[in-house]
Order: sequence, then C-alpha cells, then structure tokens
Amino acid sequence: ATNPQDTWKQLAGAAAAELVEEGMVVGLGTGSTASHFVQALAQRIQQGLHITGAVASSQATYTLAADLGIPLTDLDTHPELDIYIDGADEIDPQLCLIKGAGGALLREKILASSARRFVVVADPTKRVEQLGHHYPLPVEVIPLALTPISRKIANLGAQVKLRHAGAAPFITDNHNFILDCTFPQGISDPGALNARLHAIVGLVETGLFIDMAQQVIVGGPDGVQVFQQ
Ligand code: A5P
Repeated sequence: ATNPQDTWKQLAGAAAAELVEEGMVVGLGTGSTASHFVQALAQRIQQGLHITGAVASSQATYTLAADLGIPLTDLDTHPELDIYIDGADEIDPQLCLIKGAGGALLREKILASSARRFVVVADPTKRVEQLGHHYPLPVEVIPLALTPISRKIANLGAQVKLRHAGAAPFITDNHNFILDCTFPQGISDPGALNARLHAIVGLVETGLFIDMAQQVIVGGPDGVQVFQQ
C-alpha cells in the first residue's frame, strides 16, 4: 500500500482482527477499511483461529469473505453477533456516526444492533467535531415513496439528492433507493434528527448510528489510537 491513508486503514483493520476470539460469531462491515479487517481476519483463520461463523453486511463483503475462505453464516442461524466491525464516514466525539457512503447502511445497522459489541475502524480523516459537514447523510427509502419523502426531508432544511449509479438510480442490496441529504449547517442534534426522519413513513433507515459504537480504532501516522464510549 503506497497511499498513507490506505496504510492507516490497514493498521486499524489488523488491530480489530486481534479482537476476534475463538468460537465467536463475527459481523463483517463494508467499505475499504472493513475490507482490510476482513483480510486480516482471513489471515488469522488461516493461521488456526476458529470462528463459529461470519455474517456479511453486503453482497460485496459476502463475496470477499467467501473468496478468502471465511466461514459464512446468517442472522437466522445466529441472531446475536459477538462482535461487529465496520468503517464509518464520519465519527463525532460522542462516537455517533454517519455511515452509508457505500450504500449498505440498512444491513450495517441491523448487524450493529444485533451485536454485543460494535467496533468502528477508521483513519484520522473520519473524525469530526460535528456530523454532516464532510458527507451528506444517506437515508434508504422505498422507491414508490421517493417524491413525498424527498419533500418532507427538504422541509427539515436539507438539500436532497437521489443517489445515482451512472444514469440510473443506485439500487441498494434491499432494492431500495438512497437519498443523500446535505444539512448546510451540519447536524447539531443527531438524535433529534434521527427521530424526525424515522417518523416519515416509507423511510426505511438513516445513516445516523447513535449510541451504537462502543469503540473506535483509528489507524494513523503514529500507529493505532482507541476511543471508547
Ligand atoms: C458503507 O455503506 C459505509 O457505511 C462504509 O462503512 C463507509 O463508507 C466507510 O468506507 P471506507 O472504509 O471505504 O471509508
């Protein structure tokens, strides 16, 4: 890895893989940092670590993990994960997160909420004083409710954009759309905003992860730093 940011992500991913213990059910996140974790976990498994199984938060991660020989399972077989490890787009001082730049936020949030412990892996660029300044907030919506939901979110003060993949709308793993919502003043009260968004019928989930992460592992130029809740 020649890009320093990628080296930092790799450091965080490797440190997180050390948290996995014999017999655990492990949730696998999505994105470039989580992929480093998946690779480091595969290496530990090759070296003799035995896990009960891993649950992937996206099709992309499922394919990566399967190719690396990680034993895969699902939430029907194992409704509780011992640990879930994933990246984030923004992390505030309370360890509240914006996630979903990769479009996998719904499954990611289901896994995070099913885990006894949720650990975030990141590089220093992800740490922010207030959420919403670097990344728009992604929300997953039922396609037929696109227009009314967009208007309701705009009424909360956001600029709302339907996410595209080329010329067509981006379709999530759950066959829904993503609205990227920019709040020009930032998000001063993530809990209140999350509650107001969840009151909109047809909105499936938001990329705000509040009081979910117990620990954040940040890889950087001086090694690994750990932040706890
Ligand atoms: C995926 O939907 C996101 O929530 C990712 O966790 C996030 O985009 C982090 O990705 P990177 O590790 O590639 O920055």
